[in-house]
Amino acid sequence: MARPVLRTALCDMLGIEYPVVLAGMGPVAGGISGPVATAPLVAAVSNAGGLGVIGGAGFTAERLREEIQTVRSMTDKPFGVDLLLPSNFMGGAAGGEMPRDPRELIPAETRAGLRKMAEDLGIQWEEMPREPRADAPRPRSGGMSDEQMEVVIEEKVAVFASGLGSPAQWMDRLKANGTKVLCLVGNVKNAKRVAASGADIVVAQGTEAGGHTGRIATLALVPQVVDAVAPTPVIAAGGIADGRGIAAALALGAIGVWCGTAFLVATEANQPETQKQRVLAAGDEDTKITRLYSGKTMRNITNPLIEAWEASGLQALPMGLQGLLIQDLVYSIRKSGREELMMNAAGQASGMLSRVRPAADILHDMVAQAAGIIGGGLQARVTAVPGD
Ligand SMILES: Cc1cc2nc3c(=O)[nH]c(=O)nc-3n(C[C@H](O)[C@H](O)[C@H](O)COP(=O)(O)O)c2cc1C
Repeated sequence: MARPVLRTALCDMLGIEYPVVLAGMGPVAGGISGPVATAPLVAAVSNAGGLGVIGGAGFTAERLREEIQTVRSMTDKPFGVDLLLPSNFMGGAAGGEMPRDPRELIPAETRAGLRKMAEDLGIQWEEMPREPRADAPRPRSGGMSDEQMEVVIEEKVAVFASGLGSPAQWMDRLKANGTKVLCLVGNVKNAKRVAASGADIVVAQGTEAGGHTGRIATLALVPQVVDAVAPTPVIAAGGIADGRGIAAALALGAIGVWCGTAFLVATEANQPETQKQRVLAAGDEDTKITRLYSGKTMRNITNPLIEAWEASGLQALPMGLQGLLIQDLVYSIRKSGREELMMNAAGQASGMLSRVRPAADILHDMVAQAAGIIGGGLQARVTAVPGD
């Protein structure tokens, strides 16, 4: 069958066939199996004509370098790397040094509250065995991904995406390599900020999205960002999981789409099968935003632990510290065999997904449907009333 044609300015900017970008998805399920978007999924999307993006957030710098090299061995097409660059990592704004056991930075009442919550749900609490730090004292103000950013620059990747925060301090070095810089934002204020710092493309991500997300819905956010940052181009994200979503995004003024949840159920996605099945089983109302797992607002398939945390009124800690707080929780959940309480980031589009299949099939079906809608004219579509 002839391949559908769907070209936008994004295809020329990034050297790809279709304006569909795989979201650089980091780890789920307590991080044991690493990020979701690793080499097999990234290469599959790039080979199918989209742009694969490594979810670098779960990797050390050296593991990230290996993953980049593995992708290069699997495809000669362009691909990207995504990292999280949160400000105030580990509460760094407070200053001072990291203690030898960084858990000392966690308030006792927050730890006790979380422990009680877990025990009320039948989890037997156990502290994760760990060694105190042996290295020299370091300041709390270091960024989450400083070492990984050096790898991105040394490896001269084609595309870099920042999932949180701003890559302004690395912008000149990225640009000098010819790397195209994408920045995810959830509101107009941050869109203007990253555009002013030199982002090549702003990714406007609506609240529907899986993973870290903001408060504004895609339909309202994308056109406002398009207008606010023009002539910087915009990619739409959040809730886009089929060709109707792509067509809508292009109608809103975006030049492409950035999709996570749609590829969470790809055969090549690196996440436990039970988590893929939970995404498939989820309906439109089964996700919830919580700070429980990372300290920042993140959309997950909901579970009783999220419900209890949200009802508790406990204050989440800054990113990094919250991750330390929940290490013992994750350890205890695993030991108690209660995997259904693990982080299972996914978006509202989960309800649209019906089976696990190869990433290339997901991508090609989305593109073919979008090309059909756009080629057939939006007019033809509005005659299809839901329920017909
Ligand atoms: C499991 C999962 C992990 C994610 N991890 C990251 C990440 O590490 N970095 C990032 O920039 N975005 C991450 N995201 C958000 C995606 O980049 C993307 O913005 C979102 O999935 C788009 O909305 P959608 O899920 O409705 O397609 C993650 C999303 C999911 C579902």
